[in-house]
Order: sequence, then C-alpha cells, then structure tokens
Amino acid sequence: MEKYLGKKNLAVFISGRGSNLKSLLKFTSKKNSSTKIILVISSNPNAIGLKYAKKYKIKNYGIKFSKKSSFENQSLKLLKKNKVDILCLAGFMKILSGSFIKKFAKPILNIHPSLLPKYKGLNTHERAIKNKDKFSGATIHLVTQKLDSGKIILQKRVKILKSDNVSSLRKKILKIEHEIYPKAIAKFITNL
Ligand code: GRF
Repeated sequence: MEKYLGKKNLAVFISGRGSNLKSLLKFTSKKNSSTKIILVISSNPNAIGLKYAKKYKIKNYGIKFSKKSSFENQSLKLLKKNKVDILCLAGFMKILSGSFIKKFAKPILNIHPSLLPKYKGLNTHERAIKNKDKFSGATIHLVTQKLDSGKIILQKRVKILKSDNVSSLRKKILKIEHEIYPKAIAKFITNL
C-alpha cells in the first residue's frame, strides 16, 4: 500500500453542472494519481454536478446560505476537518473573500475560460468574439484576493474561427478545460 502514501487531499468547489469536477474525478481516481478528491462542496444545493461526487462516493455537501460568510465558515470547517491540502474551484460562481483565503492558508486553484490576463470576470467568450480575437483558451491559476489574477499554472489556447459563435467557442474551450485542469494539478503538485 506504500505507493498510496503521500497523496494530496483535494476538495472541489462547484456551483452547477460539474463537468470539470467529472474530469477531475476521472483523473484523480486513477491508481497512480498523486491526488485524491475527498470532499466536494457546492454553493448551490441543487447543483447537478453533485451527482458526480455521489457516483464516486465522495463526501459532498450542497450548502444553503443567505450570506456568503456563512457559506465560507461552513466550508472552512469542512476543509479543516477533512485535512484538505489543495482546494480546486471548478465552475464555482462565488468570489472567495480575502478572509477565507487567509484562514484556509493552503493553495487554491481556479479554472478560468480565457487566456488570462485577458478577460477576467464573466462573459469571456462573448468578449473574445466581439473583439475579433484570433485565439482564446483556458487558464488554471492560483487564487489570490485579486480576481483572476494569481500566478498562472497552465494555459492552453484554441483558435477562434470566423465561423465560431459564443456557443461553439464555449464548447471548444470546455473541452480543453477538461484536459488541462488535471494536468495543471499534476504539474502544481510536482513543484510543491
Ligand atoms: C467552466 O467553463 C468554467 O471555466 C467556468 O464555468 C464553467 C463551469 O462548467 N468558470 P462546469 O460546471 O465545470 O461544467
């Protein structure tokens, strides 16, 4: 059993569909993975993505809250209790407060559907198409108090064709998101 020692414990925060969570579960459940997902938390109790956590029998919580601080306090307790080493945000639609980031005090990774530092925030595909960009893509970065601005771990680009619209671009980028998030985590772990 020795080769299983030293696996990093990951938690994943989601808010909705959970396709990135699905790809992370697939990757981390491989025998030789250096990480394992031990906790999934959704900021929306009805998130479809929670079904993937259930399928893989991972502890999961859909937290109902009215104030963000209540979500953060409940999550922090769960992260500490479960000895989480790295938190991965995957389609998590809330902005974590500076106080949460400080109190957690471990790395937090996020996936963003643009070539950061371009298009921080929402509607990335709309903006890339509107500006007639030739490329867009996805970025995995560390989360800091400044929105979508932490150190970049991995990025991959896709070509925007003349025939692309927001929906086709979103689809293309989602595909590479599923490919690069697991790779970025593996890369991040080896540099720890
Ligand atoms: C992804 O495109 C992610 O980059 C963005 O929201 C989408 C979530 O998709 N922040 P899913 O919930 O992982 O399917």
